[in-house]
Amino acid sequence: MSILNEFYVLENGIKIPKLGFGTWQIPNGEVTYNAVSAALRNGYRHIDTAAAYRNEESVGKAIKDSGIPREKIFVTTKLESHIKDYEGAKAGFLKTLKDLDMDYVDLYLIHAPWPWNEIGKNCDEGNVQAYKAMEEFYKMGKIRAIGVSNFTPKDIENILAHCEIKPFVNQIAYHIAHHQAETDAYCRAKNILVEAYSPLGIGKLLTHPEVINMAKKYGKSPAQVCIKYDLQHDTLPLPKSTHENRIIENTQLDDFEISRDDMDYLDSLDPEHQSVD
Ligand code: A2P
Repeated sequence: MSILNEFYVLENGIKIPKLGFGTWQIPNGEVTYNAVSAALRNGYRHIDTAAAYRNEESVGKAIKDSGIPREKIFVTTKLESHIKDYEGAKAGFLKTLKDLDMDYVDLYLIHAPWPWNEIGKNCDEGNVQAYKAMEEFYKMGKIRAIGVSNFTPKDIENILAHCEIKPFVNQIAYHIAHHQAETDAYCRAKNILVEAYSPLGIGKLLTHPEVINMAKKYGKSPAQVCIKYDLQHDTLPLPKSTHENRIIENTQLDDFEISRDDMDYLDSLDPEHQSVD
């Protein structure tokens, strides 16, 4: 079965396609519109964006113009990382709906535990306030699942201690040579789905000699090995590309399986190819 027809099931019963199409760094306008249109044309039914990517408008338009019923497409977006208060989060979500031109989203995440220009700052109280606003929209049916992104176990513990609804998802940078074992194990134990952004290490892994060797061994491309690696770790990869041939290539994953030994070897690679978005 094609990976495009496979799903994870979140704790509230919502089905989420196992492969998503990422849109970070794809500029608003024609480029995003064409990339998302190509992804949908080739069977992707899960699109990941964020207010901070500034491309929600083109993502929404491509989805609308695709002619695919809205309920057949899983749409994720994120609250900007500097918004750490209840009213701000409410306003942020309403702006996102307007920009996407949608009346609900499937998954809404706090983009990061701290503003991107203040990485590491303690925003525990602000995250709780933002999350409470998201819980309200969740209860109103405007969001089908809520979660977080770039959160450590400690950041998630703060939400669990002060909020009502457990995050369904934590979206983190996760790829060969950066598989975040601690956060992954924590989320797994709590039944929080790990989504893997930058599965190709923002493209850097494609020239990694070990990844190239592995790709040759399996007769696949380096990108396919990277994406398969994430799937075999039961995470949800979000590869992105602006080229249709690559958008297709990144879905052709069904005719091979990375052996246990090779997975262990890839796990052991040096964490030199890290990435954040
Ligand atoms: P492009 O948009 O020119 O195709 P990541 O998802 O880890 O952030 O990596 C994204 C980067 O990898 C983009 O620069 C994208 O470039 C490139 N990319 C995506 N898929 C492929 C592929 N199958 N082969 C080569 N490069 C790819």
